Amino acid sequence: MAEQTQGVTVVEHALAAHYLTTLRDRTTDMPAFRSAMRGLSLILGAEATRDLPLVRRPVDTPLETMEAGRLMADTLFLVSVLRAGEGLLEGLRALVPEARIGHVGLYRDPASLKPVHYYEHMPPGLDRGLVLVVDPMLATGSSAAAAVDRVKQHGGRRIRLLSVIAAPEGVATMRAQHPEVTIFTAALDRGLDDHGYIRPGLGDAGDRYFGTK
Ligand code: URA
Repeated sequence: MAEQTQGVTVVEHALAAHYLTTLRDRTTDMPAFRSAMRGLSLILGAEATRDLPLVRRPVDTPLETMEAGRLMADTLFLVSVLRAGEGLLEGLRALVPEARIGHVGLYRDPASLKPVHYYEHMPPGLDRGLVLVVDPMLATGSSAAAAVDRVKQHGGRRIRLLSVIAAPEGVATMRAQHPEVTIFTAALDRGLDDHGYIRPGLGDAGDRYFGTK
């Protein structure tokens, strides 16, 4: 189940809530954090790909032949915003091994909080399918909006954003710059603090996932 308002789909699922609480908990260690991130990415990914087009073809079961749906080639693309996007990407890759994957490297300048673009490698054919941009923390929204800009530069037209937690500021940025992009998230939190962290949030998603602090 999911609640949808103003282009934001907040996924409502008991397991999603459970995984999110594990991610929020400051006592969660790195392996448990990774495991909860993976679980949540499977649920967010399932919700965001609910309406992927299928082609119906005959399949032989051990007992008879039937018509059944399969994903078409180049239906789904994943674009990870480095580096925290990698946390969500792992589960999504497992969910849809057919997906082609792109990367955008953006880091947030600590003074201006503006995104600095340092890397990009996109698969061909982004215009042919649904592109899921994955960025776990939609804070100011400037990195996510910049990543969506890059996807559009490469021809992407049907784009969705997957975030674990969204702040109202980030949602507003996305609405202003990319109003057609639906955001799939597990929570809409209160807002940003003076350092650009989402409150109550979960801290630094990249550091907690990679163990860099
Ligand atoms: N990035 C994070 O990892 N956490 C936040 O709260 C905001 C941006």
